[in-house]
Amino acid sequence: MTYQIDHLGIAVKSLAAAKAIYEKLGLSVTPVETVDGTEITTLEGLGTIQKPHPIQKAFIEEGAAQCGFCLNAVIMTAKAFLDKKPKSSDEEIQQAMSGVLCRCFTHVRMLRAIKKAGQEMAR
Ligand code: FES
Repeated sequence: MTYQIDHLGIAVKSLAAAKAIYEKLGLSVTPVETVDGTEITTLEGLGTIQKPHPIQKAFIEEGAAQCGFCLNAVIMTAKAFLDKKPKSSDEEIQQAMSGVLCRCFTHVRMLRAIKKAGQEMAR
């Protein structure tokens, strides 16, 4: 039997098998054909080392990252949220970020960084 390695490094027999695993883990899967023709921004497209995005800058300043395992999801979720509502309460940020877990438990520093970035983005 041939196995494929998905983007999380999980060996899967097929896309259907991957979807079943992700659903059990509470993760979502977006089939690539459903976003055909859509502009997609990844973490690498946000900023540069010389000119980081306000969220990246705030995460560095607040020491909000540790291992980095969750950072793509955290920063891109924060960006999607702050683009719509840069001036947000702690509760609104926590609600927006509730689907992204950080096992290093840096949630308080992340909240501070997201709030700081939102204030910068609102200017
Ligand atoms: S920084 Fe390690 S899981 Fe979030």
